[in-house]
Amino acid sequence: MRVFVAGGTGVIGRRLVPQLVGRGHEVTATTTSRDKFDMLRQLGAEPVVMDGLNAAQVGEAVAAAAPDTIVNQMTGLSPAHGGKLNPRKADRFFAATNQLRSEGIDHLLAAAEATSVSHVVSQSHASFNGRREGGWIKSEDDPLEVVEGTKAVEHLEDAVVRAEGAVLRYGGFYGAGADEEQLKFVRKRMVPIVGGGTGYTSFVHVDDAASATVLAVEQHARGVFNIVDDEPAPFSEWLPFYAACAGAKPPRRIPAWLARLLAGEMMVGMMTEGRGFSNAKAKRELGWELRYPTWRLGFEKELA
Ligand SMILES: NC(=O)c1ccc[n+]([C@@H]2O[C@H](COP(=O)([O-])OP(=O)(O)OC[C@H]3O[C@@H](n4cnc5c(N)ncnc54)[C@H](OP(=O)(O)O)[C@@H]3O)[C@@H](O)[C@H]2O)c1
Repeated sequence: MRVFVAGGTGVIGRRLVPQLVGRGHEVTATTTSRDKFDMLRQLGAEPVVMDGLNAAQVGEAVAAAAPDTIVNQMTGLSPAHGGKLNPRKADRFFAATNQLRSEGIDHLLAAAEATSVSHVVSQSHASFNGRREGGWIKSEDDPLEVVEGTKAVEHLEDAVVRAEGAVLRYGGFYGAGADEEQLKFVRKRMVPIVGGGTGYTSFVHVDDAASATVLAVEQHARGVFNIVDDEPAPFSEWLPFYAACAGAKPPRRIPAWLARLLAGEMMVGMMTEGRGFSNAKAKRELGWELRYPTWRLGFEKELA
């Protein structure tokens, strides 16, 4: 197949491109910077410069590649695109990503239509953002919690599902190159357990996220899939384990009121009330097999 990866240089793109190439697909991958052409060529892709917010550029890049499938992995979460994260001003940090998840996906879908590309697969998000009521583990049918960026995520998911594409709601990424910032803060004991640490997180190793994406591409999957591991877990369980694997001291514990003052409501909500996700549908319908079925295996291997 000919596959067009929008955002081929990001944390997931860098794992996905070689897996697609390894399966015999021809890949065109985008970056906003010509400086990353060598990286993309080394991964096995034909590189192209594309600003996902420029409709004309998106149209031209897709038309030139004439792909069978478009995969959207564009986010603006690195400091280069999103700036520095201040949890109290999260809207600023997520602005670039939100724009890519609203205008960016619209440009890609328009380009798909104009070039008669029949299938689109897009990144979405499912780590702690399940609706904060009822059970702790959510399926694809459960609504998402309204947090910063949810509107853009909803727009993206609706648009892709309407176009009969596949929405892949990835869990929190980890693996080399994916969680360096978090690792730095955990090593400095700057990520505490807030309150009882009762909020849930779903994780996925970046290689597993990439392998699920290859399956969605090859099977022309349609609809929403949670791409998370088998073990959604509360902060009180995974954070001390993560710290131990990283050789750090155990996380400090702080009450919710103090965390609210220091880091704001977004972080407290995530750490005390977050909801995780089930991967039953992706395993059943895509036949997805995880190399790291639980973060316990993955953290041990990646952080040792
Ligand atoms: N589920 C999750 O946990 C999750 C999901 C996504 C990201 N993250 C985290 O966020 C951090 C940063 O992610 P990242 O390394 O993937 O970087 P990123 O800044 O989010 O960039 C991702 C991709 O989007 C592209 N991109 C950015 N702005 C664009 C635009 N205007 N038009 C077209 N393409 C654009 C980038 O291309 P160029 O930079 O080459 O221009 C890159 O290929 C990582 O720590 C990662 O783990 C986590």
